Amino acid sequence: MRKVEVTFRPHDKVTRVPEGTTLFNAAHWIGLPIESTCGGRGTCGKCRVRVLAGEVEITPADRRWLSEEELAEGWRLACESVLAGDVECFVPALMRVPKAATMGLSRFVLLEPNVHKVHLVLDPPTLEDARSDVERIRAALEAEGYGVRIELPVLRHLPIVLRTAGFDVTAVLCGEHLVAVEPGDTTDVSYGVAVDVGTTTVVATLMDLTTGAAAGVASNLNAQAPFGADVISRIARTRMEETAAAELQRTVIGTINGLLEEVYAAAGVGPERTYEMVVAGNATMLHLLLGVDAHAISVAPFVPAFREPLDLPAAALGIRIHPEGRIQLLPSIGAYVGADIVAGIQATGLTREPELRLFVDVGTNGEIVLGNADRVLATASPAGPAFEGGHIRAGMRAADGAIEGVSLTEGEVRLQVIGDAEPRGICGSGLIDAVAQLRLAGLLDASGRLVAPEQVPDHPLADRLVELDGMRAFLLAPDVPLTQRDIRELQSAKGAISTGINALMEILGVTAADLHQVLLAGSFGTYINPASARVIGLVPPVPVDRIVAVGNAAGEGAKMALLSFREREMAFDLIRRVEYVELSGQEGFNEAFLQAVRFPELEEVT
Ligand code: FES
Repeated sequence: MRKVEVTFRPHDKVTRVPEGTTLFNAAHWIGLPIESTCGGRGTCGKCRVRVLAGEVEITPADRRWLSEEELAEGWRLACESVLAGDVECFVPALMRVPKAATMGLSRFVLLEPNVHKVHLVLDPPTLEDARSDVERIRAALEAEGYGVRIELPVLRHLPIVLRTAGFDVTAVLCGEHLVAVEPGDTTDVSYGVAVDVGTTTVVATLMDLTTGAAAGVASNLNAQAPFGADVISRIARTRMEETAAAELQRTVIGTINGLLEEVYAAAGVGPERTYEMVVAGNATMLHLLLGVDAHAISVAPFVPAFREPLDLPAAALGIRIHPEGRIQLLPSIGAYVGADIVAGIQATGLTREPELRLFVDVGTNGEIVLGNADRVLATASPAGPAFEGGHIRAGMRAADGAIEGVSLTEGEVRLQVIGDAEPRGICGSGLIDAVAQLRLAGLLDASGRLVAPEQVPDHPLADRLVELDGMRAFLLAPDVPLTQRDIRELQSAKGAISTGINALMEILGVTAADLHQVLLAGSFGTYINPASARVIGLVPPVPVDRIVAVGNAAGEGAKMALLSFREREMAFDLIRRVEYVELSGQEGFNEAFLQAVRFPELEEVT
């Protein structure tokens, strides 16, 4: 995609963005806020900038808000200014500096939610001023810079609320939707919810939209789990049983509503003051949440029914926020790089910084993003269940009794077991550690083959090498063997992820030395030992201090989109900015995979 250069005065900030980007977004991508109350919809008239050099066409919205003289002087609405070539423009200072909130990943977010509360003291109607209630409220909101759509449920109550409140009311807007008119001044109470719908876990955070602080957080297992552990098995269920799709939708909405009850109770807040929900999740989870058939996601050419950001009434889904509140789904990049990854990219600021960063979400499906402010690539890699303990003889989820860390130094096996219990099995992070430690202890070669005890008779751990069902194995604990087959499973999972990483690095023409950071996302990413991830070649050989766990980046991104319409707009734009790479279409994919299942030579990674 052709890039154009934009220079912002008087800040002297320069950026290069894809052709077709608006001036408003280009400014925001480099952290330069432009005045706005409508969030870039062309309805507030506040985002004026003056074009000093280059061409920006005049749009009908420009004509609505700007005089002929202003237009002739080069003034334009930044949100309407679609860039077709290099531009230099002047940005006036903000009229008021919004509050800011610092989010989990140390990103600074301007507190400008999509939910606006506007206190209005209206003139009561008279015989001389007999405008309708809608005209009256619309005019008052337009005078404040808000264009609105008034829906029937709000209209039904409007005459009564206005009159019982003596025409002293607060209008509540979600974007351009008027979702409530409340008696008196309620501007100091406003909440929203950020939800990350994971295949395994759902997390809801109630945010105070007046302060940017979290008012309550709750998480629970996605109640869809009995329908299948992963997205493919859940989609398969919807093909096998006619009622399954409706049932899956009902179940996940039940999980979300259960979490809402919890956060409301914890914060002493009710649904009637919670006006908006922002949802992140993988594409399948979003399809199932809406009750949309997801079958096409599971078969080539892997097409989702929708990728775009959807703005829906909460009532249509039966989600318990304000009855006229809105649900905003973040967009997906592709069938297997969903809105959770979009939110993660947003949370880490990956597309804003000049430094090159690699973002990896390790799971059954590995999602990989590589890039910086200039160019961003993404791909998905089916790693299979090994990282979650699946297909591993003693594999288990990260629960009490699971080995989560292994050290094989000084001839001793030291285990870190969840819940301080006797070891019952091994979870994904323990598996990565165990294999890395076997490599370092000289008990596993680069091809992934465990040595035989007779090859290392003097090794202090030689007695742990056993034969199990005709297969070599290493005994981590009496009942927890790590078999040759387990190691092969892990190799193929990590091979899938590193094939994806290598493919993206090759397209960008970069090496590990060019990587500023490797970001490990998701709960699994939090528990992986970075040094072990490097030893097994799950991530490129960068210094360990550059491998950073970023936790639930999807949840953080959803919160940011809730608190800041600018962040939300940027997240929406990622659909256009991120280039999706389909791995299975890559030439030499099979050879690359076979190479990637090998472990790196130790001198490269220690
Ligand atoms: S008109 Fe509101 S941001 Fe452009």
